[in-house]
Amino acid sequence: MMRDIVQLTSAQCNVIVRCAPAAEILYWGPRLRGFSPEDIVSLQRPVANGRLDVDLPLTLAMEYGRGQFGSPGIEGHRSGYDAAPIFTTTQADVQDNTLTITAEDAQAGLRLISELRLDPQTDVLQLRHTLENLRADAWQVQRLAVTLPVPERASDVMAFHGRWLREFQAHRLTLQHGGFIQESRRGRSSHEYFPAFILGESAFSEQNGAVWGVHLGWSGNHRLRADIKTDGRRVIQAEALYLPGEITLAQSESLTTPWVYAAFSDAGLNGMSQRYHTFLRQSLIQFSDDKPRPVHLNTWEGIYFDHDPEYIMQMASKAADVGVERFIIDDGWFRGRHHDQAALGDWYLDEEKYPNGLMPVIEHVKALGMEFGIWVEPEMINPDSDLFRAHPDWVLQLPGYAQPTGRYQYVLNLNQPEAFAYLLERLSWLLGEHPIDYVKWDMNRELVQPGHEGRLAADAQTRQFYRLLDTLRQRFPHVEFESCASGGGRIDYGVLERTQRFWVSDNNDALERQTIQRGMSYFFPPEVMGQHIGHARCHATYRRHTIAFRGLTALFGHMGIELDPVKADDDELEGYRHYIQLHKTLRPLLHSGTTWRVE
Ligand code: GLA
Repeated sequence: MMRDIVQLTSAQCNVIVRCAPAAEILYWGPRLRGFSPEDIVSLQRPVANGRLDVDLPLTLAMEYGRGQFGSPGIEGHRSGYDAAPIFTTTQADVQDNTLTITAEDAQAGLRLISELRLDPQTDVLQLRHTLENLRADAWQVQRLAVTLPVPERASDVMAFHGRWLREFQAHRLTLQHGGFIQESRRGRSSHEYFPAFILGESAFSEQNGAVWGVHLGWSGNHRLRADIKTDGRRVIQAEALYLPGEITLAQSESLTTPWVYAAFSDAGLNGMSQRYHTFLRQSLIQFSDDKPRPVHLNTWEGIYFDHDPEYIMQMASKAADVGVERFIIDDGWFRGRHHDQAALGDWYLDEEKYPNGLMPVIEHVKALGMEFGIWVEPEMINPDSDLFRAHPDWVLQLPGYAQPTGRYQYVLNLNQPEAFAYLLERLSWLLGEHPIDYVKWDMNRELVQPGHEGRLAADAQTRQFYRLLDTLRQRFPHVEFESCASGGGRIDYGVLERTQRFWVSDNNDALERQTIQRGMSYFFPPEVMGQHIGHARCHATYRRHTIAFRGLTALFGHMGIELDPVKADDDELEGYRHYIQLHKTLRPLLHSGTTWRVE
């Protein structure tokens, strides 16, 4: 027999769902004492004059068809038909604290499966929908959002804005009628709008107040929204943002949304972050083994494109000497890559720079007891590349238009099977023929008119990126990956399921980094935040900082250095050694303990 009211319970939270006739979250908040399903009667509200004669539920799908006039959770049509569905529950099951509700609209020929999982230990609530087309004609999806209610006292919003060199800038506002909306059409989680926000009681702080955090685990386009209804109720929506016409469901085809990760805390922002951190550690992050996070040296700001294997080996020796454990060769190692205007796509070793191959450098690095890592940017192609000259049609574009380059590059169309196969072959060569432990995977351009076979395909591009990475992870399970997109342009739980570290920002200025790291810490624990000691005179801002300030700033993350240790003077070298050693002493605590931010 189908249960009408389901109560999910975790250490400190409850989620109560009415499953039938439609799926509706009735309560999400602190653990209730002595709840019984009959208590739900107390939530019944009178019907006001001057409006519909029923009090409408805030369903998980927020159907317009019911008479919900706010932002719909589902929008789409069959050439104009079946455009206002209403879902009626046909089945509801609970297993392992996961509630699965199946609902149908036989009239419109659609099935909706909603999953809600409340993590018993950390209180993190995961939600997603799967929509299936049951009919012969295609159903065109415009929107598919998860809708969550929050109480009236959730009056303030905290969200993040940013740009290149300035990620995770937190801002606060009061939620007003008309709502708060945040969208990204850049084809990645983006520097500009990290796909998350927090609602809270007025004046909520690090230590105090009830807060409701929401994050969309997705590396593509996204929309997040919070609304006040005129009857007082408040809702949050989170969804992948679909471009016109890009999602079409043929008969029996289905669309599954990314997971929404929600966390309630009545102990302020620290309480929320601690729940997310523990959840990620237990359920999402997969390190290749349980050794401490190795201290990095990344060559980028040290030598840029100027690669000389003899010199790089000297850098490696110096790095090992100050305590580095993983040595990463950044951009500049592949054929024709002498500057940032050419060669992306030509994933063959530059034999002019490396006449004896990569192996002598790798062997040198390994003989010093370090791991070896390398930089790639597989999704991109420079017009000035052999790949582009051979396959100009592999660009992600709409025919008949010219689009602007970004950092002199276009995006490769991963939906194109030959392009996908080429990348898989080249990356498998790199990882299969060399003992590589680590890949820094970069993505330095936004998606403009992302077209495949004449139709927009941004969502599909993100899925293909995941597929490429997943295939490589299966082939090379010992290799760890870092997600970088001009610094922090692709940071989210969708990519974190597949990677072990983020390059947080191209801004290595320790002062500015404090704000960026703090912003990121609301949703991510320190061990996945790549933090490097940069040059005394920062390359991004030209500001100067002492080694103490740079060292102490990089300490609270997954530490590294990014400079040329061969050119560093003795005081600098002594500083690197000191802070690397301090980090090694503290990292067992930093990378597993409880993070507290002070006001
Ligand atoms: C991006 C990254 C940097 C570096 C360069 C290389 O900007 O964010 O860390 O890897 O590309 O071109």
